[in-house]
This record gives sequence, structure tokens and C-alpha cells, in this order.
Amino acid sequence: MYSSEEIRKRFLKFFQERGHQIVPSASLIPLDQTVLLTSAGMQQFVPYLSGEKSVLQDFKSRHLTSSQKCFRTLDIDSVGDDIHHTFFEMLGNWSIGEDSKKGYFKAGAIELALDFFIQELGLNKDKLWVTVFKGNEFIPEDEESIQIWQKNGIPLERIKEFGEKDNFWIAGDTGPCGPCSEIHYDRGSEFGCDSLDCGPNCPHCDRFVEAWNLVFMEYEKDQKGNYHKLSQKNVDTGAGLERLTAILQKKKSSFETDLFVGIIKKMEEVVQQKYEDQKRIFRIISDHIRGIVFLIAEGILPSNVERGYILRRILRRSIRYGQIIKAPGDFLLLLAKEVIKKYSSFYPELEEKQEEINKVIRKEENKFNQTLQRGLKEFDKLMISNPKIIGAKEAFKLYQSYGFPLELIKELARERKVGIDQEGFERELKKHQEISRKGSKAKFGGVDREAGYMATKLHTATHLLHQALRVVLGKQVQQMGSDINAERLRFDFFHNTKMDSEEIDHVERMVNQKIEEDLKVKKEEMSYQEAVQSGALAFFKEKYPEKVSVYSVGSFSKEICAGPHVKHTAELGKFKIIKESSSSAGVRRIKAVLLK
Ligand code: ALA
Repeated sequence: MYSSEEIRKRFLKFFQERGHQIVPSASLIPLDQTVLLTSAGMQQFVPYLSGEKSVLQDFKSRHLTSSQKCFRTLDIDSVGDDIHHTFFEMLGNWSIGEDSKKGYFKAGAIELALDFFIQELGLNKDKLWVTVFKGNEFIPEDEESIQIWQKNGIPLERIKEFGEKDNFWIAGDTGPCGPCSEIHYDRGSEFGCDSLDCGPNCPHCDRFVEAWNLVFMEYEKDQKGNYHKLSQKNVDTGAGLERLTAILQKKKSSFETDLFVGIIKKMEEVVQQKYEDQKRIFRIISDHIRGIVFLIAEGILPSNVERGYILRRILRRSIRYGQIIKAPGDFLLLLAKEVIKKYSSFYPELEEKQEEINKVIRKEENKFNQTLQRGLKEFDKLMISNPKIIGAKEAFKLYQSYGFPLELIKELARERKVGIDQEGFERELKKHQEISRKGSKAKFGGVDREAGYMATKLHTATHLLHQALRVVLGKQVQQMGSDINAERLRFDFFHNTKMDSEEIDHVERMVNQKIEEDLKVKKEEMSYQEAVQSGALAFFKEKYPEKVSVYSVGSFSKEICAGPHVKHTAELGKFKIIKESSSSAGVRRIKAVLLK
């Protein structure tokens, strides 16, 4: 029986032996921030898939393979069943063609996939079914793939056609995309239903498990929703390690494979209950603890925005479920340790971050526990009047004043058999975010005090970035706006043309060099007049108070600013520009993060 480690290793080795370069997993914080978290193996290759960058400039081969850390928030509510996860690993192989004659396309991808499943892993070919794209008004039916599957021994009765929802793949709304063909594994009639058309994508049962998605990328979708042919053809594939492990280990659920047994055993031991008796809760917690560990290891901290909010949601949900099954206080730390043990040979960063992971979990537990009891009381008060539905304002109060994530409110409502006005809640949330965004902007300098240490570091990084841009692009660079949250900085500045990759690299290197030099950050108070005379940059349009603070970073940068800032640049870690784009006419926008 193959262990998950063995499957991952065999996959990478199989493709390496067939000319693919093994590429390490990219960060869970994607380079191209059209999504909050990396949700597919292809994301780190988007510039090469779209033809914007040449793959051979950055890689040894146009054929690549990886095992990518992924996180999908869309599936949060499904976690608890046999196959859904938030965090998971995606095995993939790519053929990125610079012209259509090189690299492999449909036939190559299909043959490699069948070889790996059948020759390498010994899966029974008779259990493999496939799906192909049936075409839509823009893109024709994928007849070619049907023929290739048949030529490779998959009979027509096991080839099914589906539309866009199942067999057309795109990450987000725009970008490289194309029809896909999936291999589904038939787990046998004991998992099936009586429906006559039971087969891949059966809406009634889990007999067929989607095991591998082969995307034939030859289109690009633009912002208006139109498709264009790409100048090159690419193959992008993805096979979930968790599902593949379940298939190979003949388990009904990936929670019963070696990927989870350590965590689940530990949970049984600490709460003195059996997985069989508490399946859903055990599964949710063991899914979430993997996400928690991997997200914190990326430097993400719980917060109320973006990635930080995703982390907060899964953390608080786990804490709350832990309380329901009467788990002792430190149970998440014990489980986190199991996750680190399981993964650190492939992801050594986890072990290095163990302390940090424990610290963040503990802190969030304390924070949440302080308000949880009060929030539950508030919730019970709401129930006294016996409502059918919890209104938007009430739900928002639980979120805002008691820190209840939406899932928790939904679950409490479900337990009490009342509904919740989710749309209204989301409207309230939007309204509130808008108000607090304006509020923090008005606070002169733009940093919301609540945003904490990361925002402080990003604030200092913004000064380094500003100065580096002036050195690299010229003194005409002027700050037009700055927005910082606990995840990233965003900096808008006057500059007429798109920055090329060399300029971006240069700026990034310069900022990192200043970080490494561990420059001292100094604060002085003086009048606005004196500040400007001393050479401090002052680009905000707001009126300045009589006395202003001037922050200098070594002798590199000097700006009028309200702070807060770190004391030494070495605190910042590694600076990374994740996006350079246009903000408005003549104004460019940079988004950047700090990695540990
Ligand atoms: N990018 C494809 C997916 O994520 C392979 O399914």
C-alpha cells in the first residue's frame, strides 16, 4: 500500500524521468492576487501560460511538475463529508509551449496520465471513466480528446461529455483557460445510487471520484468576457493528493488515509472519544488544523480582513467545535504538532515556524474565549423571542462585537433550527468595511491602529519602497496614495509607464538590501517647515498639524509620517512585490507583502 509520501514522491519522479523539472510549491499567498490564496498548481505559472514571460528564461524545461499547497475557501461548508478540504495538495504537470510544435498537448497529457495511473500506480484501467468538454457557443466540442481516450483503450461508454461548469477550466474570472478532460475513478456499486445515469459527476452519490483534471489551455478570457486564442498551447493538470491517496489506500474518505490518521488518533486520545462517534466534528477540526498550520507558517495572522479573516474563521470554528466535544484547552497545539510532524520532511518551513504557530493559536484562543461566552449569552437572548430568522443587524452584532465568524453564527442558527439573513449580513459587513476604510484613511497616514505589528512593518516597508522607486525610476515618482492592512501594502505613485520586470526586480532588491543592512528607524518631531527644509518627503494632500513627526530610515529615506514604524529594518523579513499595475492615468500601483 502506498503512503501519501510515496505517492507524492512517485508522481514527481515519474514526471522528472520524463523530462519535467520539479518546481517547489509556491507560497499560499499567490503572486498574482486575483485570488486571496493559492487554489491551484498553475497559479505560479500564469505569466508563462499566458505567454507574457518565456518559460525557458526562468526554468530549465518547458515541462514542469510540482506538488502545490492549495487552499479553497469555497469548500468550507462541505468539509465534514468524505472528500472536501480547505487545505490540500495538488499534484500537477505542465507543458508550456512557446510555439505549438514544441511541448506536448492533448495526446501527450492523456498518455502520461494513463501511464502514471496504470503502469506506475497499478490502478485498474476498467475503473477509469473520463469526461470531456461538450462545447458551447464559443468553443467547440472536444472531439479530439474523445478519440485519444478511445485510442488509449477507454471505451466510448466510459467517456462522458459535460458543459462549462464541469469541463472548462479557468482560475478566477480572466486569464488563460481551456476545455478540460477529467479522469474519474469508479469506487464500485457499494458507493453508488440507483439512478440510471449514475456516472462521473453524479448528483446523487459519491461512487465516482474526480481524480485528475487535464486542462488544455489554448484560450484566454478578457475582462469583457470574450475568449481569444492564446499564441501558444499549454497543458495544465491537477490531481488532489488527498483523493488519490484515498483511492490507492482503498479508503472511503481521505480522512481515513495516513494523511489524517495521526491527527485523528491524537484527537481521540485527547478528547477520549472515538472518531466513529464524532465523525463530522473530528473531520472539520482535522481539516482546519492543517489549514491553520500552513497559513500561519506563511506569516498570515488572524484578522478581520482577507487572508487573516480566513485564518480567523477556521481557527475560531475549530476552537468552538473543540469546546463542543469538551476538548482540553491545549488540544489545537497538540494537533498542530501532529501536522508539523507529518509534513515537515516535505515542507521544512513548518518546523522552523513551530513556535510562531503555537503563539498565534494560543493568542487567538484567548481572544476568542474572552468574548465567546458573552456572545453565546447574547445569542440565547435573541432566541427568547422565538424568531424564525436572525436578522442582519443581530447577526452583524454577533460578528462585530463578539467576534463570531459567519460560519459560527450559521451553525448556531442551524442547531436551533432558525434561519439567518445572510444577504443582509453581507450588506452590513460591506457597509461597515467601507466606513472603517474611510476612517483609517482619514487618520492621516492611513494605518488602522488595530492592524498590528504586520501593518507596522508594512508601513516601514512602504517608506523603503517609496525611496527605492525614486532611485530606480527617478524623482518624479510621487506618492499618490497608500493603503495598508494586515496582509499587504498598496502604494500608488505618479509614473507614466508600466514598470518592466528588471525595474521591479531592481526595486525589490534595493528594499531587501536596506532590510538586510538593518537600518535604524528614527523619529523626530519638528514643524512642517523644518521638516520640508530638512529634505523630508511630504506628499499627502491633507493639511499637516503644526508639529509633525519625521521618520528617517538610516540615511536612505526621510518622510513626514504619523507612523507607527518598526525600530530596525531587519524586523521586516523579506520584501516581495506581488503586483504592478495601472491605478489610473499616469498612476501606477504596487502591491507588496513581507514574507518571513
Ligand atoms: N488547474 C486545474 C485545476 O485546478 C488543473 O483543476
